[in-house]
Amino acid sequence: MSATSDRDTPDFDRLRREQMVREQVERRGVRDDRVLDAMRAVPRERFLPKRRGGSDPRAWADAAVPIGRGQTLSQPYMVARMTEALALRDEDRVLEIGTGSGYQTAVLAFLAREVCTIERDPVLSEEARQRLHALGVENVRFEVGDGTLGVSEGAPWDAILVTAGAPSLPLPLVAQLAPGGRLLIPVGTRELQDLQLVTLDEEGELRTRTLLACRFVPLVGEHGWSRFNA
Ligand SMILES: C[S@@+](CC[C@H](N)C(=O)[O-])C[C@H]1O[C@@H](n2cnc3c(N)ncnc32)[C@H](O)[C@@H]1O
Repeated sequence: MSATSDRDTPDFDRLRREQMVREQVERRGVRDDRVLDAMRAVPRERFLPKRRGGSDPRAWADAAVPIGRGQTLSQPYMVARMTEALALRDEDRVLEIGTGSGYQTAVLAFLAREVCTIERDPVLSEEARQRLHALGVENVRFEVGDGTLGVSEGAPWDAILVTAGAPSLPLPLVAQLAPGGRLLIPVGTRELQDLQLVTLDEEGELRTRTLLACRFVPLVGEHGWSRFNA
């Protein structure tokens, strides 16, 4: 994947490497070189809504950024921590729930063989598809629908990443994990969640570990929040 494009300027490259990856991600303890390389390579500024007169400095800020439609692009540190926790291998096939801007999708696509990403909002999905196409990312399949049901076509998945907060663990996702698979999901209230790592070992035993407190937009769907109280 050629994530860095010819529209990339050396200045953006420096801001991404220094302000974002070194200051926010490495300093807080993310050590996985593959994850750090992916975040240096994927041009985060290309995933924010277009704005006149140049790039948006929030692209490298230590915060989630609104992307329209009431949704956000997650904070760089959170993207890095989640990606590191998934411990992706080159041959892995990954399901992402909550495409949003497509930034996290591009990071996953940099590290895994294949990514399927599902988004409930068709407008966001199409915008993300166009961004990844423009960057030459070819190992991503886009789906529109309720990701709390998982995506059965292509299951089981080596890794499943949910980038919205759920009230409880959606059982269809557990059922779509491959032996040795990892599922990462924020679970809690609408205001605050625990980032949970669920692993399925080769004997079929599930283990759940809480990694950190986090705050995501609600996961809305049959096994998530109702859209009326989200
Ligand atoms: C925090 S945003 C994702 C940010 C994204 N990872 C990025 O890099 O821009 C969460 C996304 O999950 C989507 N979402 C919420 N519930 C969903 C569901 N049941 N299925 C699929 N997408 C869902 C929202 O529409 C939103 O775009």
